[in-house]
Amino acid sequence: MSPLFVMVALRLPRNSQYAKGRSWNAPPAGGSWQELHIYRWHPESAEPPRIDSYWIDRNRCGPMVLDALHLIRNELDPTLAFRRSCREGICGSCSMNIDGENGLACLRKLGDGASALRLFPLPHMRVIRDLVPDLSGFFKHYQAQMPYLQAAPPRGGVEHRQSPADRNKLDGLYECILCACCSSACPSYWWNEETFPGPAALLQAQRWVEDSRDEHGDERLDTIAAHQGVYGCRQILNCAKACPKGLNPAQAISALRRRLLARP
Ligand code: SF4
Ligand code: SF4
Ligand code: FES
Repeated sequence: MSPLFVMVALRLPRNSQYAKGRSWNAPPAGGSWQELHIYRWHPESAEPPRIDSYWIDRNRCGPMVLDALHLIRNELDPTLAFRRSCREGICGSCSMNIDGENGLACLRKLGDGASALRLFPLPHMRVIRDLVPDLSGFFKHYQAQMPYLQAAPPRGGVEHRQSPADRNKLDGLYECILCACCSSACPSYWWNEETFPGPAALLQAQRWVEDSRDEHGDERLDTIAAHQGVYGCRQILNCAKACPKGLNPAQAISALRRRLLARP
């Protein structure tokens, strides 16, 4: 009998392909201008996503990508959606893909104007609108790590004490601002977002496992060992490369693995 071949028509959803959009504020000759190509998509529109081109006058704009986004929204196109809060790399809300790399718009400088800067929402996240990704799955994994101190109240109404040496063990862990740049750059998270917590959530897990004041380390390790836990990580190190705070989630994941292996 001849083998049975089944033909499958593979089609990308219509909304996964973007079209060329509108050009805003094309400049006169001369001057100092920067072009930005920005992903636009509105959930209530039947139109597929598009890439709009915006020109900004560098002499009227601050030095950062976030400055350009503010200028665009304030003066050219009030319908452009993006997140931001602190504008100094603290809140993590302005994370996006800038010229092919995940980063924070408030910490990334505009180019020299020689080529257009490309702004997309964080990759492999569902898009709410324009540059705003849906982070509900990301925060579900964060919440599952119980990211708070779990310890009985100290006797005598004093604070939980920690030696300087134990406090130093939290360096490189506590600084995470939950921007999701690492998780949305992680191939293991792309393919297994339900079962693999991703680098950010695992770095947070290690932050609490390592905390000398916490009394629930074993339960935390049980949570991590469940499903793919730390074993979903292939040590590709995209996470460390993507982190705008210079953290290394892959290293934290290795430390968790060593703890799990050392358990009786
Ligand atoms: S090292 Fe692990 S967590 Fe980091 S990007 Fe690679 S697979 Fe993801
Ligand atoms: S580890 Fe770095 S990239 Fe990942 S969420 Fe925290 S600050 Fe962002
Ligand atoms: S606006 Fe807060 S990190 Fe960029």
